[in-house]
Amino acid sequence: MLNKLKKQKKSIQSDTHSYQELSAENIPKHIAIIMDGNGRWAKKRGLPRVAGHREGMNVIRKIVKYSNRLGVNILTLYAFSTENWKRPKTEVDFLMRLPERFLNVELPTLIEENVVVRVTGEKENLPQYTKRAVEKAIEETKHNDGLVLNFALNYGSRSEIIDGIKSVIKDVEGGKMAIEDLNDSTFSRYLMTADLDDPDLLIRTSGELRLSNFMLWQLAYSEFWFTEVLWPDFKEEHFEEAIRVYQKRQRRYGGV
Ligand code: FPP
Repeated sequence: MLNKLKKQKKSIQSDTHSYQELSAENIPKHIAIIMDGNGRWAKKRGLPRVAGHREGMNVIRKIVKYSNRLGVNILTLYAFSTENWKRPKTEVDFLMRLPERFLNVELPTLIEENVVVRVTGEKENLPQYTKRAVEKAIEETKHNDGLVLNFALNYGSRSEIIDGIKSVIKDVEGGKMAIEDLNDSTFSRYLMTADLDDPDLLIRTSGELRLSNFMLWQLAYSEFWFTEVLWPDFKEEHFEEAIRVYQKRQRRYGGV
């Protein structure tokens, strides 16, 4: 008990301390995370890969809470890519159960904490139980106006862009849009993220230095932060470090 109390005290102190170190005026509004390294985390411990995903889910709880406290507007988490279907069926099944498992426990807290749940990705091809879980969460949080917790689920950026192009062509052919009006900002409205500002900061864990078909359009001017830390080991202090580095960067958007 005493240990538990000590631990609690320590975490409150370190949270308060770290929060003060960050500049409250320059918290990235939209943070996107490629949560990588679950499989390696499990392998290192002689556990099945899915144990890494389960642990990864627990990290999400902490990072959502922390993002909310810091005043982040949007947290996008790459939970399942359109390419992840290539994984063994048992792993895919496990991953598809995670939103349900997560939301069964967390939804009441998310509602209470004013979080808005949403999904970017092709929902139609998800198993019924996954779709049901996320749709329930979307419905029950739709009147909230706090942190947007955006799960990129069955998401692939190239197909999103191609679908956007097809819709533009349809609208041009149907006389709803003039080709001269196509530009960065009008095209953005044809993407799944039409109503979201682009990420300010991209974090990828596990030492991999690539985008893996994630938000290729939206990340054009985002700041990137990579870490060797595997996602299941990712803690508030790493998140905070990413934001601290972000705050030191100068964003020039191609200017000087
Ligand atoms: C990549 O690690 C991770 C994923 C493909 C899945 C990420 C999912 C979670 C962290 C949990 C999602 C939870 C909810 C609630 C949606 P990897 O398996 O590719 O790791 P490796 O590169 O070490 O093999």
